Amino acid sequence: MRHFLTLKDFSKEEILEMIALAQKIKAQTKQRKFVPYLEHQTLGMIFEKSSTRTRVSFETGIYQLGGVGLFLSSSDIQLGRGEPMKDTARVISRMVDMVMIRTFEQSKLEEFAAYSKVPVINGLTDTYHPVQLMADYLTMIEFGKGDNPVIAYIGDGNNMTHSWLMLASKLGFELRIATPQGYECDPFIILDALEMAQQSAAKITFMTDPKEAIKGCDVVTTDTWISMGQEDEKEARIEAFKGFMLDESLMSLAKDDAIFLHCLPAYRGYEVSEETFEKHAEVIFAEAENRLHAQKGIMVWLDGQRDA
Ligand code: CP
Ligand code: NVA
Repeated sequence: MRHFLTLKDFSKEEILEMIALAQKIKAQTKQRKFVPYLEHQTLGMIFEKSSTRTRVSFETGIYQLGGVGLFLSSSDIQLGRGEPMKDTARVISRMVDMVMIRTFEQSKLEEFAAYSKVPVINGLTDTYHPVQLMADYLTMIEFGKGDNPVIAYIGDGNNMTHSWLMLASKLGFELRIATPQGYECDPFIILDALEMAQQSAAKITFMTDPKEAIKGCDVVTTDTWISMGQEDEKEARIEAFKGFMLDESLMSLAKDDAIFLHCLPAYRGYEVSEETFEKHAEVIFAEAENRLHAQKGIMVWLDGQRDA
């Protein structure tokens, strides 16, 4: 049994297998052909934080695969009243076939997985957002940026940045990360990524100047400056991230045909200008839709149907 807690746990071949499954199932879905790969299966979906995309894509995804999704908000289940994660895991995993969790610390997700009888999927933690990166990579492929892309991440060193580090170091991409001082990535995750990059020949660099990062790149990406749980730091963060907003002047330094990705929700006037966001809306919303397709590939793969 495998869990999907971080891309660090998967080989390049395994990541590509899941992407291939996602592409196949997406093509079937587009023809309104719903193959019941996960017939009669139940996906438990535990949310300790808000969500639009993750909830809708997982719930729709499991339904289209022939199963059913159970939305479990921590404010409704006993977890929210203090029932331990390990007890929650031992109960829920006896009744469902797979579990997706969105929570705070990665260690809470790991604790759940350690006590779970069924595969557990990370639906976002403070540390990682790996399902988003699978959708992002699928989108890059679809828009012609899947082969040896140069990627620039401009913004906060957060769960998205950490996930980009994992994807790039596994797949051998060039990734340039520009963060303001004091908002860098976790040093342990950087070390992991640099070690993996040695195997894959990925080129990973860190800087504080967004212009230097974006120059001549194929893919530009960013994320909110204020992640869920950081609302109290809003003012300090807005001050620290001055000069990091992706606007047309910064974007003009990327390749002419560069694509812009954003996991959403986007905050116009902060990490991205309204003009830049709307100019790239087609790719951004294709990326959002790909959450549905990428996660179907992941779920079918975790169920053991790697060659489905
Ligand atoms: N990108 C993403 O995970 O969106 P939600 O927070 O809406 O699920
Ligand atoms: N970094 C953001 C991602 C939201 C999908 C957060 O954790 O809130």
